[in-house]
Amino acid sequence: MAKTSDKKVAMKGVILAGGFGTRLRPLTLITNKHLLPVYNKPMILYPLETLKKAGITDIMVVTGREHAGHFMQFLGSGHEYGVKCSYAIQNTNNGGIADALSHAEDFSQGLPVAVILGDNIFEQDFSKDIASFTEGAKVFFKRMENPHRFGVPVFDKSGKKIVRIEEKPKKPKSKFAQTGFYVYDNEIFTIIKTLKPSGRGELEITDANNAYLDKGKLSHGIIKGLWSDAGTFDSLHKVSIEIAKRGL
Ligand code: DAU
Repeated sequence: MAKTSDKKVAMKGVILAGGFGTRLRPLTLITNKHLLPVYNKPMILYPLETLKKAGITDIMVVTGREHAGHFMQFLGSGHEYGVKCSYAIQNTNNGGIADALSHAEDFSQGLPVAVILGDNIFEQDFSKDIASFTEGAKVFFKRMENPHRFGVPVFDKSGKKIVRIEEKPKKPKSKFAQTGFYVYDNEIFTIIKTLKPSGRGELEITDANNAYLDKGKLSHGIIKGLWSDAGTFDSLHKVSIEIAKRGL
């Protein structure tokens, strides 16, 4: 179990665990994707430990109605894992990542939020990023050969400044993937209310990040170590093997 950072931070944590997990059927007919095993434990414990390691212990899990009770049964109050868990039901179940996050507005109590996708597994320690966060938004990229499945940043000629982030571009304009860890000030909830559904009918977190970019309030970090989503049979299998190998 991850050790909590010694520094107490005035920030809430949100784990987004909605969606239908269609790419993992028939397993996701039995339970929610984020409760499936990744090597030796349920997937949800990885994002929970990432938040905890960063010093964040007041955590809301947002999920769909189907199988919602399984999360409560497993995590309970969070006491056993050294955190305090709250729960919210995403009305649409798959209205998009930004839609899921909107359900945490009251829970945030005006504070900044660290948001992690429930199927993202990180080796990275975010505690310094959390401790030094003041305002705006911060996103995290991982270098990879072909990031077409992810959000991809487009850099200006200097190669340092991001001009926009493209969601799943056919021809990625850089070799970086947007990971599923985001830090936002409380303006995120106002920004989400201005978003329109994308082509796939979802409120996209990438559009929210681009809104911060347009205001000159988006910063970014590059992460090291293992990072993977676990939303397909292939990625679930590969990341389980990697975790077993590295003893994570
Ligand atoms: O994994 C990182 C990628 O995650 C980013 O690079 C992309 O920019 C971002 O859009 C996202 O892409 P995906 O298409 O892979 O996201 P997916 O639909 O698989 O959802 C990821 C998690 O978000 C999922 O495990 C649960 C949560 N989610 C998703 C949706 C659509 C919700 O809680 N509610 C939802 O409605």
